[in-house]
Amino acid sequence: MSQVLYDVVDGIARITLQNPPVNGLGFAVRKGLVEALDQAEGDAAVSAIVITGNDRAFSGGADITEFGTPRSGWHPGLRTVIEVLEQASKPVVAAIDGVCLGGGLELALGTHFRVAAAQAKIGLPEVKLGLLPGAGGTQRLPRLLGLEAALDLIVTGRIVKASTLANTPLFDRVVETPVVEAAIEFAKEVVRQGTPLKRVRDLKINQPDAEAFLQVARRNIAAANKNQPAPLLCLEAVAGCVSLPFDQGLVNERELFVKLMGSPESLALRHVFAAERTATKIPDIPADTPLRDIRKVGVIGAGTMGGGISMNYLNVGIPVVLLELTQAALDHGVGIIRRNYEISLKRGRLTQAQLDERMALLSTTLSYEDLADVDLVIEAVFEDMGVKEKVFKALDAVIKPGAILASNTSGLDVDVIAGFTKRPEDVIGLHFFSPANVMKLLEIVRGAKTAKDVLATSIAMAKKIGKKPVVSGICDGFIGNRMLMSYRAAAEEILMGGASPASIDKALENFGFAMGPHRMGDLAGLDISWSIRKRRQAENPDVDLSVVADRLCMAGRFGQKNGAGWYKYEAGSRTPIVDPVVEKIIEDYRAEKGITPRTYTDSEIVERCVYALVNEGARILEEGIALRASDIDVVYLSGYGFPLHRGGPMHYAQQVGLFNVVRAIRRFAAQSDKAAEFWQPAALLQNTEAGQALK
Ligand code: 3HC
Ligand code: NAI
Repeated sequence: MSQVLYDVVDGIARITLQNPPVNGLGFAVRKGLVEALDQAEGDAAVSAIVITGNDRAFSGGADITEFGTPRSGWHPGLRTVIEVLEQASKPVVAAIDGVCLGGGLELALGTHFRVAAAQAKIGLPEVKLGLLPGAGGTQRLPRLLGLEAALDLIVTGRIVKASTLANTPLFDRVVETPVVEAAIEFAKEVVRQGTPLKRVRDLKINQPDAEAFLQVARRNIAAANKNQPAPLLCLEAVAGCVSLPFDQGLVNERELFVKLMGSPESLALRHVFAAERTATKIPDIPADTPLRDIRKVGVIGAGTMGGGISMNYLNVGIPVVLLELTQAALDHGVGIIRRNYEISLKRGRLTQAQLDERMALLSTTLSYEDLADVDLVIEAVFEDMGVKEKVFKALDAVIKPGAILASNTSGLDVDVIAGFTKRPEDVIGLHFFSPANVMKLLEIVRGAKTAKDVLATSIAMAKKIGKKPVVSGICDGFIGNRMLMSYRAAAEEILMGGASPASIDKALENFGFAMGPHRMGDLAGLDISWSIRKRRQAENPDVDLSVVADRLCMAGRFGQKNGAGWYKYEAGSRTPIVDPVVEKIIEDYRAEKGITPRTYTDSEIVERCVYALVNEGARILEEGIALRASDIDVVYLSGYGFPLHRGGPMHYAQQVGLFNVVRAIRRFAAQSDKAAEFWQPAALLQNTEAGQALK
């Protein structure tokens, strides 16, 4: 199938891109475009040219799948294509619908006129891939929108509707669809009226205070993007459109683009883009698996998780029935949902009408009978198998056949839960993260008997509610919390070995984590994991599971919630203050365990904590709990604050080199008998040949 269609309608050549899914501007499209333009130029019967896509995409930009392959360099390059159409002697009109992003918008900027559907999505999101617009976008967009507006779009990568730019020179006409007909009419008008061709390169930027503006922007952008070079280089490229002649501005843009393309940060962000999309594809589930219809959702438990989970569905217009044990618990839960929406209202993120609509979709009940017609029910009651058993048996008795029964358990065996019903094939784990209305990660736990369409529907539904789904097998903690246990164990080892909570936090925060483990512990509350440890200790009386955090809890230090944890906090403040009392508790604990403290460098702290994650991740892969290394990266990036510019723990390990990671792990193992067990390098890490990718 040709990726560029050519036909002539009433003397207007119509060039239609057809490279699904989003008309990426790969080699065949670029070549086809130039050939079609040449054909139109050479046909005396053609008076103007319209370039279009379809209602999903004018074009999503350069073909990302070509990056890093020879095809991306094959001629004609995108810049040549744009030059050819800009220099065309006949009027060229872009007819824009769907997404018009990155190189797609740059292509449109090279045409002489642009007609867009009001709903079309416009943007230069290259910065989100660690890049900058590399086909003239930084030179042409400011000439149409002005320096400030263009810089904002380029540096943030924000995508806006064409209707919001209707009154700017970017668009000659913004219409309701069908846009192609409107563009053809427009092209005929241009021909009839002999409108001169508008070449954006010829426009002047009129901003007298440009240098001062750029100077302030430079400072702000640098301060806000410490770990990402792309935003600042976006600015430097845009700055060229003021200080340099057009063609030199293009050369400057190209040089900066090439620099970013080779940067580790862009490599990481492009890995993340692909990883998030790959995570939704399950090898034994065909893409065309029919999905179950989810029109109404039931949620059991209106506590911390149940409320947030409900909001996800209300937000996309799906009615929710919330079930609790008591009216008081329901009132409390509904009150929190309302308060959350009111906060959004105050911040201007929601209108009163939207708030009312969402609340009207929520109903409450104390009776399972009212759940009879839901299509999906999510249980979020206490983490106790006995309670889960009661709930699932009650659900099994009333829920209609074909409905999906999900548990939000953070660690219990989903197969055991499925066994409480007569329909284990309909049971699945949907592990949301707290706050469930905010956190993007959704671990989807596939049970031994979970039906394929239940899994496929859960993944599709996750995307609909704006989550990043990753499928996990069943094990203690699933993917994320199991890795977190290893990370915490590594931090505990360093702490006991002589480092302070603040020095560990600082090292990991400098690496890029949003918060070090101790600040995070104080935020989450130390008492929660203490109660889990107490339960585990009671179940395993022969093993010493104690950690220094137990001593903090025994001293009544539960974290920010009561002003004292690993740090102390002044009333009403979240700023951690190092507390000598904690230092004394740690010193006493070390002395009790016979440990002589030593010092740790920041890099050793980072290596230990991050390689502990990597090692556990590799075991998770070996056991088939995660399908791919990149799935683990998605979990850790979207659920646990791993630095985005590092691409996730498994990607990072491969950048460091698995050989080097294994060598460091062996070094840690050699340091003590206790450590030897923890620091056993996973077979997968040892066996992956140098240079081979972790799959
Ligand atoms: N090239 C190739 N494939 C692309 C693509 C692109 N530019 N953009 C998206 N795709 C693919 C995705 O990988 C996915 O493939 P899959 O079905 O095999 O998983 C499919 O299109 C659908 O993508 P999404 O699942 O993301 O679908 P959505 O509808 O949610 O989003 C989108 C569509 C808004 C286009 C989103 O995919 C997106 O933001 N894409 C990236 C856009 C971008 O960054 N463009 C700039 C590219 S760099 C560039 O142009 C350089 C230039 O300046 C020189
Ligand atoms: P919570 O204690 O805040 O809320 C539980 C709610 O369930 C309470 O309101 C309680 O009244 C209700 N409930 C208890 N038994 C019930 C029953 N038989 N029928 C109906 N309602 C009942 O607990 P939370 O934190 O919301 O946790 C719920 C589940 O989510 C647990 O399985 C937990 O492990 C899991 N989870 C919790 C996370 C968190 O950060 N809090 C994160 C991810 C999962």
